[in-house]
Order: sequence, then C-alpha cells, then structure tokens
Amino acid sequence: MTSTPVSSRDRLIVALDVPNVAAAEAMIARLGDSVTFYKIGYQLGYAGGFPLVRKLVDAGKKVFLDLKLHDIGNTVAKGVESVADLGATFLTVHAYPQTMKAAVEARAGSKLEILAVTVLTSYDETDLREAGYRLGVSDLVKLRAEQAKAIGVDGLVCSAEEAANLRTIAGSQMSLVTPGIRPAGSAVGDQKRIMTPARAIAAGADYLVVGRPVMEASDPKAAAEAIVREIEQAKN
Ligand code: C5P
Repeated sequence: MTSTPVSSRDRLIVALDVPNVAAAEAMIARLGDSVTFYKIGYQLGYAGGFPLVRKLVDAGKKVFLDLKLHDIGNTVAKGVESVADLGATFLTVHAYPQTMKAAVEARAGSKLEILAVTVLTSYDETDLREAGYRLGVSDLVKLRAEQAKAIGVDGLVCSAEEAANLRTIAGSQMSLVTPGIRPAGSAVGDQKRIMTPARAIAAGADYLVVGRPVMEASDPKAAAEAIVREIEQAKN
C-alpha cells in the first residue's frame, strides 16, 4: 500500500452502482459520515455522474473513477489529465504496457493514483483463447502485474483470492483493491469468488470495493459501519 497509513474507514470503497445522480445523492446523504470513499463507474458516470466527482471531493470524500481506460497513449494521457483535474483519487486502466505508461506519466504531479486491471474476472481460459491470447489467466495476471510494477502503476484491482499471490509481485508500495466482498450472511448475487471483509484484509487487500451489500441493505449506514468495524478488527 502507499506510504501514508490508511484508516479502516478509508479502506472501504462503496460502489455507487445506481442509474442516476439523484439516486446517488440520496444514498450519499443516507450514508453520511460512515463512508469516505466512493466508486463511480460506467453506469453513473455516463448518466451525468462525472460532476459528482468534484462535488464529493469538495465535501471531503475520495473518489475512485472505475473507467477502465484503454486507447492510444496520447488519448489515455489526455483522459488521465482530465480525471486528475476532477480531483479523483483512483482511476482504473487496462493493464496494457502502452496504456499503463501513458497513464502513469500523465498523472505525475497530481494526487491521482492509477490502478491496473490485469485480467477481467469474468474472463476464463476459453475467453482468453477466443480473444487471441496464448497465456492462461494466471500467467497473464502475473505478467501484467509484473509489467504494472515495472511501469510504476500505483495499484492493482484483483480478487481477494489473488491478493496474497499478487502481494509478492506488488511489494508494499502498490495498493491491492479488491471487489467481490461479502460480509457473512449477505447475498452473493452474481459474484463467484467472494470473501468476507476480514478475510480479504487478512489476505493482503488494502481497499475493499463493496456495492450491493451496502447499497441494497435495509440500513446502508449500519451495513457500512459493520464493514468498517470488521476491517478494523482484521487489522489487529
Ligand atoms: O455489488 P458488488 O459488491 O458485487 O459490486 C462490486 C463492484 O466492483 C461493482 O461496481 C463491480 O463493477 C466492481 N467489480 C467487480 N469485479 C471486478 C471488478 C470490479 O465486481 N473484477
């Protein structure tokens, strides 16, 4: 993880997977001080959610823009500069060397950190072969993680199961950010490889991305607080 110690609360990133800004703002108000870090992805971003980044940052929150960029270097660099100006803390790019280099160079001098997505978790060996890759999932994840490290990428998005293995490549400087988190007793939904917050932290995750277990809880604030407590306990 990055050099400054991160509080347990800042390790919880709540995915604002909602269809519009009004729904996002209602949830942010409901969660109040329980959540300090939000993720905005395609759904909310393309539904007018980008101005919310600045609004959240001005309100003292952190924002993870999950845009999974991948384009020619110049276009990636310009996009990264715009995201840095919005005040976001994390931005995802696909882990292609050219894309990662452009992103890392373009974020220099800002507080934006670049996270690389190695291989999408919905991809298996068949999907990779179909897309023309010769490596299998685990070899490609390893290769891309090594390339990300060499290029100076700030962190990796990975499943909690991968976190322990990736930590040996990532070292202590890179952040490991893990979705697929399910507190004991919550609905699994479409996630296949899941872990509880405590186990994910024990496996080496620095940040936990949690969507439905908070967003669809009858009391979202209580659900967020319970996850923060679980993170706190797991760290001790
Ligand atoms: O609702 P849930 O907790 O499953 O949401 C997880 C969030 O993390 C979603 O925004 C999803 O897009 C994202 N994500 C994921 N798996 C990945 C990468 C991102 O679930 N491998």
